[in-house]
Amino acid sequence: MFYRADEAHGLAHNPFKAIVAPRPIGWISTISTDGIANLAPYSFFNAISDTPMMVMFASGGVKDSARNAQETGVFTYNFVSHSARDVMNVTSAPAPPNQSEFELAGLPMVAGETVPCPRVRDVPAALECQVTNIIQPDTISGDKAAYVVVIGEVTGIFIDDNHIADGRFDLAKADPIMRAGYRDYMRGGKMLELSRPGGDPNGPKR
Ligand SMILES: Cc1cc2nc3c(=O)[nH]c(=O)nc-3n(C[C@H](O)[C@H](O)[C@H](O)COP(=O)(O)O)c2cc1C
Repeated sequence: MFYRADEAHGLAHNPFKAIVAPRPIGWISTISTDGIANLAPYSFFNAISDTPMMVMFASGGVKDSARNAQETGVFTYNFVSHSARDVMNVTSAPAPPNQSEFELAGLPMVAGETVPCPRVRDVPAALECQVTNIIQPDTISGDKAAYVVVIGEVTGIFIDDNHIADGRFDLAKADPIMRAGYRDYMRGGKMLELSRPGGDPNGPKR
């Protein structure tokens, strides 16, 4: 089948998020200007630069995470393991801004090193970020998208020492849970190595 984006697809559900999949889940922690710690999952999340290291998440409207990031200038990405899937899901509840999802989910947190917002204590890795841009994308019809893209530069990297093996972050052990379409998630399968043609700029040293 082929359909134009402005036409009906005729399927039971919009397939878009199943086509752009699997997506890493950014478990985004922030702090409000009142000092309330906030935590929520964002699968419109990814890395966009490695020098400097930068990540983004996109919020459908200005939710608590995006508003906190805008007002405080910081957020932290927490890695989501398969074992954390249920508690991650709990933190997606539409809690009011004065309710911390850390409390709601009974999740211990620890203070950030380079940012004033906390991170989830028991994750394999986390990236502390300083906000660089907040963008509301233009659409081809001349309107603004309903999403707000929050971009941050990484200022601090936490890795649980138990997840470092042979000088590498042990991704297989960290066992990421990824978002697919519909209500589906994916769990990592077998890893494989591929070298880039003409030498690999992402060789072992980087
Ligand atoms: C796995 C998962 C991924 C999600 N990804 C997004 C996303 O990319 N953008 C978004 O706006 N909401 C997303 N949501 C919904 C938010 O987590 C939810 O609206 C949450 O209440 C927002 O919390 P906040 O207001 O504290 O930021 C996702 C939910 C789940 C369970």
